[in-house]
Amino acid sequence: MTNKADQDRVMIFDTTLRDGEQSPGATMSHEEKLEIANLLDEMGVDIIEAGFPIASEGDFRAVSEISRQTQNAVICGLARANYKDIDRCWEAVQHAKKPRIHTFIGTSPLHRAIPNLNMDEMADRIHETVTHARNLCDNVQWSPMDATRTEEDYLCRVVEIAIKAGATTINIPDTVGYTAPRESAALIRMLIERVPGADEVVFATHCHNDLGMATANSLAAVEAGARQIECTINGLGERAGNTALEEVVMALKVRNDIMPFRTGIDTTRIMNISRRVAAVSGFPVQFNKAIVGKNAFAHESGIHQDGMLKNAETFEIMRPEDVGLTETNLVMGKHSGRAALRSKLADLGYDLGDNQLKDVFVRFKALADRKKEVYDDDLIALMRDTAADEQSDRLQLKSLKVVCGTEGPQTADLTLIVDGEEKSVHSTGDGPVDAAFNAVKSIFAHKARLQLYQVHAVTEGTDAQATVSVRMEEDGKIATGQSADTDTVVASVKAYVNALNRLLIRREKSGPDVAEVSYKDVS
Ligand code: KIV
Ligand code: ZN
Repeated sequence: MTNKADQDRVMIFDTTLRDGEQSPGATMSHEEKLEIANLLDEMGVDIIEAGFPIASEGDFRAVSEISRQTQNAVICGLARANYKDIDRCWEAVQHAKKPRIHTFIGTSPLHRAIPNLNMDEMADRIHETVTHARNLCDNVQWSPMDATRTEEDYLCRVVEIAIKAGATTINIPDTVGYTAPRESAALIRMLIERVPGADEVVFATHCHNDLGMATANSLAAVEAGARQIECTINGLGERAGNTALEEVVMALKVRNDIMPFRTGIDTTRIMNISRRVAAVSGFPVQFNKAIVGKNAFAHESGIHQDGMLKNAETFEIMRPEDVGLTETNLVMGKHSGRAALRSKLADLGYDLGDNQLKDVFVRFKALADRKKEVYDDDLIALMRDTAADEQSDRLQLKSLKVVCGTEGPQTADLTLIVDGEEKSVHSTGDGPVDAAFNAVKSIFAHKARLQLYQVHAVTEGTDAQATVSVRMEEDGKIATGQSADTDTVVASVKAYVNALNRLLIRREKSGPDVAEVSYKDVS
């Protein structure tokens, strides 16, 4: 498919909004999805998998809207191997300048058993559904789910069928993160060598990180001939996540000497989009995460710091600015003006319009009143909070007063705005956070269970902001909320309310589950 000049070009297929968002607790609002799609497009992602249109009205609306607004990238939607899914997918992506339908079916023995199809019946299903997709759209991607645990002969057979039926990209998913680099490469090489028509299509690699090998497996597949990597920002995704976009892109850039491939990604945009995805998904980035972790470019030990001062290359294989991490000496405080804030935020990758800046400036002043010095991490937390507070949220915190100390019981007086109406309550609890959470529960009764409550100090010092993460579960649906404040109890309640708002969005997602595949409506 690719011509000689393009042999070294690897396409980046981002699935943050589909496989990433599918991960329990990573719900994004409609506006957040549009914003992330826009950032992905601006950073040079080749294909954006914008969602799974039949899964819910919300997914359908997001894929349609992203299709309409995106300027450069191919917009792809996911569909199972039935006509209804494929038609719905096409309905959503047809508005894109460059639409793609991505249809899949599980081909391994375990997955074949679920719809109870034998090998021949499944082969027929693949032929029919890929043909149908191709009749609608001239850009069709087909995936044999759990390819790495599918018998090789059968995999070759179904890949050939999909190519003959008109698929233009063949994606090879390592659905459960089971493969290893040598095997990942051998599989792609084997398919390219054995399948008739393989030179007419692009092979893609789609790895999950259950054994921590997703990046290595993806790069091995590229060395063997794959020219599309499927990945997500921050490695977001089900279980241990998907291949992290920032890792494969930076690996190809930094080690171009041994992996002579290029992508179209503007790597200086990585930090900004990483922060935005962490904020809107509610999944914080681990401190020691490669490329985008808080410590990825931090040098603590004396030997390292000494070496860095003499020559940065002693301990740094890439420059922080290559991934959009810029350090300035501008310390912010209560006397800092709007222009300084704008410039500082721009350094951190946030380009704000005048109205947004006005809103953020008010919050910044409130923070600076409570905190002498406002560090970069404080501003990042503040931006995350600003994004989390949506006008459309059903629940909003109006005020909170807690009484705590050695003499119990601890109490909370809380006022929330619920669907536009103010509601107040007085509650007690085992500690101030418990009292405040009890107050939320008595104002907004729900049966969601608290799965995780986590507090981190954003910076050092007793006036540091606390970032709180709260994960809730209700009927198998999970949502994570985050917030930051110099008052830990306020941050806790805001994170709790944030999680509840996300859970309410999840409740609205009433479409079929990916696991409950109905294969009956194929024709
Ligand atoms: O991991 C997987 O197999 C998938 C498919 C739907 C492509 O995400
Ligand atoms: Zn996947």
